[in-house]
Amino acid sequence: MEDHIAKVLLTEEQIKAKVKELGQKITEDYRGKNLMIIGILKGAVVFLADLVREIRAPLKIDFMAVSSYGRSTRTSGVVRILKDLEGDISNYDVLIVEDIIDTGLTLSYIKENIASRNPASLKICAIFDKPSRRKVKLEADYSGFVVPDEFVVGYGLDFNGLYRNLPYAGVLKPEYYQERDKHENPKPNTGKGK
Ligand code: IMP
Ligand code: MG
Repeated sequence: MEDHIAKVLLTEEQIKAKVKELGQKITEDYRGKNLMIIGILKGAVVFLADLVREIRAPLKIDFMAVSSYGRSTRTSGVVRILKDLEGDISNYDVLIVEDIIDTGLTLSYIKENIASRNPASLKICAIFDKPSRRKVKLEADYSGFVVPDEFVVGYGLDFNGLYRNLPYAGVLKPEYYQERDKHENPKPNTGKGK
Protein backbone atom coordinates (compact mmCIF):
# COMPACT_ATOMS: atom_id res chain seq x y z
CA MET A 1 0.00 0.00 0.00
CA GLU A 2 2.82 2.38 0.91
CA ASP A 3 4.37 1.80 -2.52
CA HIS A 4 1.21 3.21 -4.14
CA ILE A 5 2.01 6.65 -2.74
CA ALA A 6 3.75 9.13 -5.05
CA LYS A 7 4.11 11.93 -2.53
CA VAL A 8 3.43 12.46 1.18
CA LEU A 9 1.64 15.78 1.73
CA LEU A 10 1.41 15.66 5.52
CA THR A 11 3.30 13.32 7.78
CA GLU A 12 1.93 11.42 10.75
CA GLU A 13 3.85 13.76 13.08
CA GLN A 14 2.48 16.92 11.44
CA ILE A 15 -1.06 15.60 11.66
CA LYS A 16 -0.64 14.52 15.28
CA ALA A 17 0.59 17.99 16.31
CA LYS A 18 -2.26 19.71 14.48
CA VAL A 19 -4.91 17.43 16.00
CA LYS A 20 -3.55 18.17 19.45
CA GLU A 21 -3.71 21.91 18.78
CA LEU A 22 -7.31 21.66 17.48
CA GLY A 23 -8.27 19.57 20.52
CA GLN A 24 -6.87 22.21 22.86
CA LYS A 25 -8.77 25.02 21.12
CA ILE A 26 -12.00 23.04 21.21
CA THR A 27 -11.46 22.19 24.90
CA GLU A 28 -11.22 25.90 25.73
CA ASP A 29 -14.11 26.98 23.51
CA TYR A 30 -16.52 24.34 24.79
CA ARG A 31 -15.84 24.65 28.52
CA GLY A 32 -19.21 24.56 30.31
CA LYS A 33 -21.04 23.72 27.07
CA ASN A 34 -22.97 20.63 26.08
CA LEU A 35 -20.74 19.27 23.31
CA MET A 36 -22.00 16.77 20.74
CA ILE A 37 -19.49 15.68 18.12
CA ILE A 38 -21.13 14.58 14.88
CA GLY A 39 -18.79 12.59 12.64
CA ILE A 40 -19.49 12.21 8.95
CA LEU A 41 -18.92 8.60 7.95
CA LYS A 42 -16.71 7.13 6.82
CA GLY A 43 -13.92 9.58 6.10
CA ALA A 44 -14.02 11.41 9.43
CA VAL A 45 -13.61 8.29 11.57
CA VAL A 46 -9.81 8.32 11.80
CA PHE A 47 -9.59 12.05 12.55
CA LEU A 48 -12.52 11.92 14.99
CA ALA A 49 -10.99 9.09 16.99
CA ASP A 50 -7.76 11.06 17.43
CA LEU A 51 -9.47 14.42 18.00
CA VAL A 52 -11.84 13.37 20.79
CA ARG A 53 -8.87 12.05 22.78
CA GLU A 54 -7.35 15.54 22.66
CA ILE A 55 -10.53 17.20 23.92
CA ARG A 56 -10.53 17.46 27.71
CA ALA A 57 -14.22 18.21 28.15
CA PRO A 58 -17.35 16.10 28.47
CA LEU A 59 -18.76 15.19 25.07
CA LYS A 60 -21.01 12.78 23.24
CA ILE A 61 -20.50 11.32 19.78
CA ASP A 62 -22.97 10.57 17.01
CA PHE A 63 -22.55 9.84 13.31
CA MET A 64 -24.21 10.61 10.03
CA ALA A 65 -23.52 8.95 6.71
CA VAL A 66 -24.35 10.59 3.44
CA SER A 67 -23.75 9.68 -0.14
CA SER A 68 -23.53 11.81 -3.21
CA TYR A 69 -25.13 10.14 -6.21
CA GLY A 70 -22.86 8.61 -8.81
CA ARG A 71 -19.43 7.14 -8.34
CA SER A 72 -17.45 10.06 -9.71
CA THR A 73 -14.65 11.43 -7.56
CA ARG A 74 -16.15 14.82 -8.39
CA THR A 75 -18.97 15.53 -5.99
CA SER A 76 -22.37 16.09 -7.59
CA GLY A 77 -23.80 18.01 -4.63
CA VAL A 78 -26.85 15.78 -4.50
CA VAL A 79 -26.82 14.18 -1.09
CA ARG A 80 -28.73 11.23 0.29
CA ILE A 81 -28.78 10.40 4.03
CA LEU A 82 -27.65 6.79 4.46
CA LYS A 83 -27.51 6.88 8.26
CA ASP A 84 -29.12 9.50 10.42
CA LEU A 85 -28.37 10.73 13.95
CA GLU A 86 -29.66 8.58 16.77
CA GLY A 87 -31.19 11.26 18.94
CA ASP A 88 -32.45 14.78 19.44
CA ILE A 89 -29.70 17.41 19.27
CA SER A 90 -31.71 20.48 20.24
CA ASN A 91 -29.91 20.94 23.59
CA TYR A 92 -26.43 20.34 22.26
CA ASP A 93 -23.56 22.46 21.06
CA VAL A 94 -22.91 20.53 17.90
CA LEU A 95 -19.49 20.26 16.29
CA ILE A 96 -19.52 18.56 12.88
CA VAL A 97 -16.27 16.68 12.28
CA GLU A 98 -15.36 16.05 8.64
CA ASP A 99 -12.32 14.76 6.77
CA ILE A 100 -12.06 17.31 3.97
CA ILE A 101 -13.94 20.26 2.55
CA ASP A 102 -13.59 20.29 -1.20
CA THR A 103 -16.37 22.01 -3.16
CA GLY A 104 -18.23 22.41 0.14
CA LEU A 105 -21.44 21.06 -1.37
CA THR A 106 -21.69 17.98 0.88
CA LEU A 107 -21.05 19.85 4.10
CA SER A 108 -23.31 22.78 3.27
CA TYR A 109 -26.15 20.30 2.79
CA ILE A 110 -25.32 18.56 6.08
CA LYS A 111 -24.93 21.84 7.93
CA GLU A 112 -28.32 23.07 6.79
CA ASN A 113 -29.91 19.74 7.63
CA ILE A 114 -28.45 19.75 11.16
CA ALA A 115 -29.23 23.45 11.68
CA SER A 116 -32.90 22.73 10.96
CA ARG A 117 -32.96 20.54 14.10
CA ASN A 118 -32.19 23.60 16.24
CA PRO A 119 -28.97 22.75 18.06
CA ALA A 120 -27.86 25.23 20.76
CA SER A 121 -24.90 26.06 18.49
CA LEU A 122 -23.33 24.62 15.35
CA LYS A 123 -19.73 24.65 14.16
CA ILE A 124 -17.55 22.74 11.72
CA CYS A 125 -14.14 21.11 12.19
CA ALA A 126 -12.30 19.64 9.18
CA ILE A 127 -8.77 18.29 9.13
CA PHE A 128 -8.18 19.06 5.43
CA ASP A 129 -9.38 21.91 3.25
CA LYS A 130 -9.17 22.63 -0.49
CA PRO A 131 -10.37 26.25 -0.61
CA SER A 132 -9.41 26.60 -4.29
CA ARG A 133 -12.18 24.17 -5.22
CA ARG A 134 -15.04 25.75 -3.29
CA LYS A 135 -18.39 26.10 -5.10
CA VAL A 136 -20.37 27.43 -2.15
CA LYS A 137 -19.45 29.81 0.64
CA LEU A 138 -18.47 27.55 3.51
CA GLU A 139 -15.66 27.80 6.04
CA ALA A 140 -14.62 25.44 8.79
CA ASP A 141 -14.55 27.04 12.24
CA TYR A 142 -11.64 24.72 13.08
CA SER A 143 -9.44 23.85 10.16
CA GLY A 144 -6.36 21.64 10.01
CA PHE A 145 -4.41 21.91 6.77
CA VAL A 146 -4.94 23.52 3.40
CA VAL A 147 -4.10 20.93 0.72
CA PRO A 148 -3.49 21.49 -3.00
CA ASP A 149 -6.05 20.65 -5.66
CA GLU A 150 -5.06 17.01 -5.88
CA PHE A 151 -6.92 13.85 -4.89
CA VAL A 152 -5.65 13.08 -1.41
CA VAL A 153 -5.70 9.67 0.32
CA GLY A 154 -4.90 8.52 3.84
CA TYR A 155 -5.86 9.60 7.36
CA GLY A 156 -9.48 8.62 6.63
CA LEU A 157 -9.56 9.70 2.99
CA ASP A 158 -10.11 6.94 0.46
CA PHE A 159 -9.81 6.23 -3.19
CA ASN A 160 -12.33 3.59 -4.14
CA GLY A 161 -12.63 2.58 -0.47
CA LEU A 162 -8.91 1.99 0.03
CA TYR A 163 -6.08 3.83 1.85
CA ARG A 164 -8.16 5.21 4.76
CA ASN A 165 -5.81 3.50 7.24
CA LEU A 166 -2.64 5.24 6.10
CA PRO A 167 -1.45 7.30 9.10
CA TYR A 168 -0.37 10.18 6.81
CA ALA A 169 -1.94 12.04 3.88
CA GLY A 170 -0.57 11.69 0.38
CA VAL A 171 -1.18 11.45 -3.31
CA LEU A 172 -1.30 8.17 -5.24
CA LYS A 173 0.86 7.32 -8.21
CA PRO A 174 -1.17 8.04 -11.36
CA GLU A 175 -1.46 4.36 -12.31
CA TYR A 176 -3.37 3.60 -9.10
CA TYR A 177 -6.00 6.25 -9.84
CA GLN A 178 -6.72 4.25 -13.00
CA GLU A 179 -7.15 1.00 -11.07
CA ARG A 180 -10.77 1.70 -10.08
CA ASP A 181 -12.39 -1.03 -12.16
CA LYS A 182 -9.77 -3.61 -11.34
CA HIS A 183 -10.33 -3.01 -7.60
CA GLU A 184 -14.09 -3.16 -7.89
CA ASN A 185 -14.28 -6.16 -10.21
CA PRO A 186 -11.13 -8.18 -9.74
CA LYS A 187 -10.66 -10.45 -12.72
CA PRO A 188 -11.22 -14.10 -11.78
CA ASN A 189 -8.15 -16.29 -11.96
CA THR A 190 -8.52 -18.29 -15.14
CA GLY A 191 -5.88 -20.76 -14.19
CA LYS A 192 -3.91 -19.81 -17.29
CA GLY A 193 -0.36 -18.60 -16.88
CA LYS A 194 1.30 -19.50 -13.60
P1 IMP B 1 -17.34 18.30 -1.27
O1 IMP B 1 -18.83 18.13 -1.21
O2 IMP B 1 -16.89 18.57 -2.67
O3 IMP B 1 -16.80 19.30 -0.30
O4 IMP B 1 -16.71 16.87 -1.00
C1 IMP B 1 -16.55 16.39 0.24
C2 IMP B 1 -16.31 14.90 0.21
O5 IMP B 1 -15.69 14.44 -1.00
C3 IMP B 1 -15.34 14.55 1.32
O6 IMP B 1 -16.03 14.30 2.50
C4 IMP B 1 -14.63 13.35 0.77
O7 IMP B 1 -15.35 12.19 1.06
C5 IMP B 1 -14.64 13.56 -0.72
N1 IMP B 1 -13.36 14.16 -1.18
C6 IMP B 1 -13.15 15.41 -1.61
N2 IMP B 1 -11.85 15.60 -1.94
C7 IMP B 1 -11.23 14.44 -1.67
C8 IMP B 1 -9.86 14.00 -1.78
O8 IMP B 1 -8.94 14.73 -2.18
N3 IMP B 1 -9.60 12.72 -1.41
C9 IMP B 1 -10.57 11.87 -0.96
N4 IMP B 1 -11.85 12.25 -0.83
C10 IMP B 1 -12.19 13.51 -1.19
MG1 MG C 1 -16.26 11.99 3.27
